[in-house]
Amino acid sequence: MPSTNQSLDPHDEIIPVLDCGGQTMQLIARRLREAGVFSMILSSDTPAEEIKKMNPKGIVLSGGPSSVFDEEAPRIDPEILKLGVPVLGICYGMQIVCQELGASITPVDHREFGRANLEIADESDLFEAVPQRTTVWMNHGDQVTDLAAANLETIASTPTCPFAGVRCLENDIRFYGVQFHPEVTHTPHGTDIIRNFAYEICGSTGTWHMAEFAETEIEAIRERVGKDRVICGLSGGVDSSVVAALLHRAIGDRLTCVFVDNGLLRKNERQLVETTFRDHFSVDLRVVDATEQFHSDLAGVTDPQEKRRRIGHRFVDVFKEAAEGIEGVKYLAQGTLYPDVIESGHGHSGKSANIKLHHNVGGLPEDLGFDLVEPVRELFKDEVRKLGEVLGVPDAILWRHPFPGPGLAVRVLGEVRPDRLEIVRECDEIVLEEIIAADLYRSTSQVFAVLTPIQSVGVMGDGRTYENVVAVRAVETRDFMTADWARIPFDVLARISNRIINEVRGVNRVVYDISSKPPATIEWE
Ligand code: XMP
Repeated sequence: MPSTNQSLDPHDEIIPVLDCGGQTMQLIARRLREAGVFSMILSSDTPAEEIKKMNPKGIVLSGGPSSVFDEEAPRIDPEILKLGVPVLGICYGMQIVCQELGASITPVDHREFGRANLEIADESDLFEAVPQRTTVWMNHGDQVTDLAAANLETIASTPTCPFAGVRCLENDIRFYGVQFHPEVTHTPHGTDIIRNFAYEICGSTGTWHMAEFAETEIEAIRERVGKDRVICGLSGGVDSSVVAALLHRAIGDRLTCVFVDNGLLRKNERQLVETTFRDHFSVDLRVVDATEQFHSDLAGVTDPQEKRRRIGHRFVDVFKEAAEGIEGVKYLAQGTLYPDVIESGHGHSGKSANIKLHHNVGGLPEDLGFDLVEPVRELFKDEVRKLGEVLGVPDAILWRHPFPGPGLAVRVLGEVRPDRLEIVRECDEIVLEEIIAADLYRSTSQVFAVLTPIQSVGVMGDGRTYENVVAVRAVETRDFMTADWARIPFDVLARISNRIINEVRGVNRVVYDISSKPPATIEWE
């Protein structure tokens, strides 16, 4: 269905974030999008001419670890101040503009890190409806110390930072600067400040909504794909599922999904995907049962990286073969997300192009010979979920915990054998059932069972047993790069342990993993 109201194009209003290297730079774009305004991340040195072509409503300069005194520090094109749109500088982003405008910047004796009490002197625009005294989060080594030579005025301060909020509304410049970080949750009114910038100062009206995004994207897919056929690898995870639902809405039966059953899946996983996509969405779904190939590849292999390597290769082979069996496929749809685009350095910004030291097992190489369709590459994970809701993807898929590409193979420590997979599969199901029953599924990020290569002595009835030890792992995390072990109540752990020992043959001991990441990882292998 084409969009009926062109003024609702979600990309109509853009406030780009220029990336000066700050850790929380992505959060600024997220906060803007949460406020209903589209944002993307650009390199700090993007020429003003380039930015002008986007017709932005405003521009934000992020914070960053550099000092304005470093030779290598990110620079901005000063012409952006003359584009006639408001600019908000955060922390380092504030300092480079203040320096440009003639203010003095001085290193502080001790880096200021943590909460500070902000006192607002002018609440007419950036701080509208923010309490006059509020808490903000600081993290800086330099600060602005003198505005005398600049056309800047102070609009907020803290006891240690006299120029915590500044403004310049002279010579066609509309610049606002804050020394603190409004994008982090430790600044309780940060979202209000970002909203004020977007709405009161930049005049945005809020066009970034998932329903409209879905419509625009569906149109774009139809236009791009024409009468051709698209293939999509479904894993059962959130991203590929939402992509499949979107593609299906756009091109109907010219989408074919391929789901590879590698024999390393959780209990009922294949059925969930089949019920959702074949029965509910009526998608042309091909399920390839490659259990035997994967299992025979893994026979005798104990090294985790070797397991991953073999699984990865086999997956690509199986997928390729399945794709070759489908007539006239021109496109491959993938669930690449915006953070992947930024982190791989393929985004608009170069500054945060750190290499993601992460496993890519279960992924496909780029040279499969298809053109790529990546309809969610502009979205953050939470936006993908919202899009999924708009498209009617069931909660059971949208809110699923992540599951690694190599599946249960990295949860059977040591050699992966069908009988050992069955043990961990049963245990995993019990863990999940109890976590869901205790209403802990949404508050935990990942929960699962691990079959250790250890046997321990037990007693059952009158007899001695010598059986497997199973570990239960539950973690809480926002980004999966660091994680803490979840404080699951003892009675829930007790039920999990009792059920596993009573219901799963071959297990006589259950232990709970209380290690954080780092130094441990989430998976055991
Ligand atoms: P670690 O164990 O590195 O896990 O702390 C972080 C997140 O990544 C998942 N994970 C993987 N995902 N292929 C994947 O697709 C893999 O080889 C892999 N190894 C770990 C893990 O489940 C957690 O969500």
